[in-house]
Amino acid sequence: MKIVLLGPTGQVGWELQRSLAVLGEVITLGRQDTPAVDFADPDSVARSVRDLRPDVIVNAAAHTAVDKAEAEPELARLLNATTPGLLAREAKALNALLVHYSTDYVFDGSGSAARTEDAATAPLSVYGRTKLEGEQAIVASGCRHLIFRTSWVYAARGGNFAKTMLRLAQERERLTVIDDQWGAPTGADLIADVTAHAIRHVGHSPQDLGLYHLVASGETSWHAYAGFVIETARRLRPQLPLRVSEIASVPTSAFPTPAQRPLNSRLDTSRLQARFGLQLPDWQQGVARMLHETL
Ligand SMILES: NC(=O)c1ccc[n+]([C@@H]2O[C@H](COP(=O)([O-])OP(=O)(O)OC[C@H]3O[C@@H](n4cnc5c(N)ncnc54)[C@H](OP(=O)(O)O)[C@@H]3O)[C@@H](O)[C@H]2O)c1
Repeated sequence: MKIVLLGPTGQVGWELQRSLAVLGEVITLGRQDTPAVDFADPDSVARSVRDLRPDVIVNAAAHTAVDKAEAEPELARLLNATTPGLLAREAKALNALLVHYSTDYVFDGSGSAARTEDAATAPLSVYGRTKLEGEQAIVASGCRHLIFRTSWVYAARGGNFAKTMLRLAQERERLTVIDDQWGAPTGADLIADVTAHAIRHVGHSPQDLGLYHLVASGETSWHAYAGFVIETARRLRPQLPLRVSEIASVPTSAFPTPAQRPLNSRLDTSRLQARFGLQLPDWQQGVARMLHETL
């Protein structure tokens, strides 16, 4: 199997380099590769993929800077919608499978129930709107596809919320963290492992192609997530000089940002677990593992 991986340097892309390796030849196409593949130039991306004639195209590249996207909507649209749409057309022409990632930001985050794949979308931000347009372009192309909507992604490599909390906990006695946004922190490693499993699965069960919610099990707020990270760090590394003695709860309105975020990012993963015969672990398991690796 020949697999082209776009966005190999990102949180998910990096883990995909590992998880896809057992499926066949993985060719990475990134901005640092030669020739460089830049999603701001959709035609050149499509051409690079066409020349390689892959069996599977995995797109982990995106404009993920949610606040910056508000100021550069055209660039966000190129990266999140136009180029994925062209990739889908190439996939259709090559009869290749396209794997793509989307987000809880396609929803408005109202209410408190976990949303299924069929729930009405209503993005609040440029990022959410352009990611939804990307999904729609892929579906409209008629190519064989898997789209995974995920949320609150972290990875051992690079910066993430947990690492920021640990740094701040060493610098300050009091932290203030938002307590009215709910979701499930999801490891890039989990997303990559499920992706590899799903690619194999749809090889023999093509009826299971389509759109899925892929997040770790359970739910938390950013405030409780920060508490878990600091408690776990204290347990794993008692010698760590953590100064923090109070984690105060604040509403989202205490930290105004250019992009509006959904308050309820809960995603229902029943469809994915049932169709692919998988059990998604609790979010705490992956976060504790990441802390073990990085502390
Ligand atoms: N992060 C989250 O919390 C989150 C939540 C929900 C859904 N998702 C979705 O999950 C997927 C993976 O996200 P992630 O967290 O792994 O993203 P990430 O760490 O921000 O990585 C983004 C990737 O896109 C590449 N990229 C950015 N601009 C590009 C351009 N102009 N041309 C080519 N490549 C470009 C980056 O390459 P460089 O290294 O060259 O910049 C990097 O490889 C995305 O579809 C994202 O929308 C993420």
